Amino acid sequence: MTNLLGIFESFGPTVKDLLGPILRYGPNRYSICEPSAAKSIYGHGTQFAKSAWYSSWTTPGSWSLFPDQDIKSHAHGRSLFQSTYSMTALVSYEAFVDECGALICQRLQEIAENGESVDMRHWFQCYAFDVIGIITFGNRFGFLDRGEDVGSLIQALDGHLFYATLVGLLPSLHPLLYRIRNLWAGRKGTGRGYILSFTLEQIADHRAGADAKFEKETTEKREETRTEPFLSKFLVKHAEDPEKFSHQQHVVAACVSNVTAGSDTTAISLSAILYYLIKNPDCLLRLRVEIDEFQSRGQLSGYPSFKETQQMTYLQATIKEALRMHPATGLPLERVVPRDGIEIAGQYFPKGAIVGINTWVEHRNSTYFGQDADQFRPERWLIKDTEALSHMNQHWIPFGLGSRTCIGRHISMLEITKVIPRIVRDFDFELVSSEAGKEATWSTQNVWFVKPTDFIVRVKARAKMS
Ligand code: HEM
Repeated sequence: MTNLLGIFESFGPTVKDLLGPILRYGPNRYSICEPSAAKSIYGHGTQFAKSAWYSSWTTPGSWSLFPDQDIKSHAHGRSLFQSTYSMTALVSYEAFVDECGALICQRLQEIAENGESVDMRHWFQCYAFDVIGIITFGNRFGFLDRGEDVGSLIQALDGHLFYATLVGLLPSLHPLLYRIRNLWAGRKGTGRGYILSFTLEQIADHRAGADAKFEKETTEKREETRTEPFLSKFLVKHAEDPEKFSHQQHVVAACVSNVTAGSDTTAISLSAILYYLIKNPDCLLRLRVEIDEFQSRGQLSGYPSFKETQQMTYLQATIKEALRMHPATGLPLERVVPRDGIEIAGQYFPKGAIVGINTWVEHRNSTYFGQDADQFRPERWLIKDTEALSHMNQHWIPFGLGSRTCIGRHISMLEITKVIPRIVRDFDFELVSSEAGKEATWSTQNVWFVKPTDFIVRVKARAKMS
């Protein structure tokens, strides 16, 4: 893995064995790998706020859920959004996801016919962006239609990730650097500034089309579960109580957050699932057998429904295992030790020390996942031993922990569980080596998100089951 920051270079699967349970990776910063750490730092009722590193993830002076460093304001903010992002609300978006699922399959079919090699992470990001567009604003951004970086959003996102990851280490510079960078870039700004401009345009377009409809409908008639894009739901909340749910702080911030957090993460996870399946043909075969069995019993539709996929135990284990092997975020989830200090792994950390668990380190720990923790083996999730399973589940943290777990995880799981059976059923993928004679593999870059940089595959259409 290529790390953006040299200081994180030593983070690796064997870090605990080499260095013990605590790694100091910067002044006052500690990455911890110890069974009790999760509960002590992120457990219910603890007072460990996010570190100042997160402040560079938003526009200076504006509020957003992800970087909020205040425990109370975060809890209040989160409660305003929770229902919109719940799984119950999200299953009503299945048709939106199916629309994008059909399009990515169509693109893959064309790619197969042309015999091209393609970067699958790019196509997964196109899929994830279009799902986010349709769920958030009611329309696809057009990534899958055009196959390219529409409006340079991917480029802006890359710039934002690079900037926020680095500048977060010197957060006092963020207000000035952010301003200079965006002034320099011109009218639409750059990085997060650009994503904000893009989002404001989307909101304006949506409002222009939707205002007439809003006037007619009374807010009482609306239900949270109706298949309206998030933006419509947010605007209703704003209309109901503009002080509690403000336009700038809540409507805009949540839409920006969807655009920022909703594509890379899902694309990385989808890539990881496909990559590990390609690399492990036995697992791919077992998954295909499950898909075929479900289909022949009439338990799997052409467009698999979320409900159907929940019954597919090998599919679920495969997804879980790929997210264990390659979680989307690759830096410690930093928190600040509160007033009374804390002892973890026999070491006292005073107030103000920054401590955190790195998902990659946690997921490769043989104490939790066994001696073969470095191997992709979905079967590890299919055991009957409930105690061992619960132990692994406690340390499976691709979506974070505690009160700050990912609010968008159900969106991603909906996208992932619906599209993987389709593409595995309909296509064969072959990993292309970057150099003749070299083993085909991929490289990754850790910019908070651990992105594959060259997931190049050849695609072939499979014969359809009659
Ligand atoms: C497979 C996909 C995803 C993964 C692996 C993932 C991972 C994470 C992780 C690890 C955190 C915790 C960060 C921390 O504690 O520092 C987080 C938080 C968050 N994620 Fe995700 N995420 C995914 C998809 C999404 C999507 C689709 C959205 C929005 C549409 C989203 C929005 C957020 C937000 C707003 C937070 C902050 C929550 C809070 O602080 O209360 N994520 N995510």
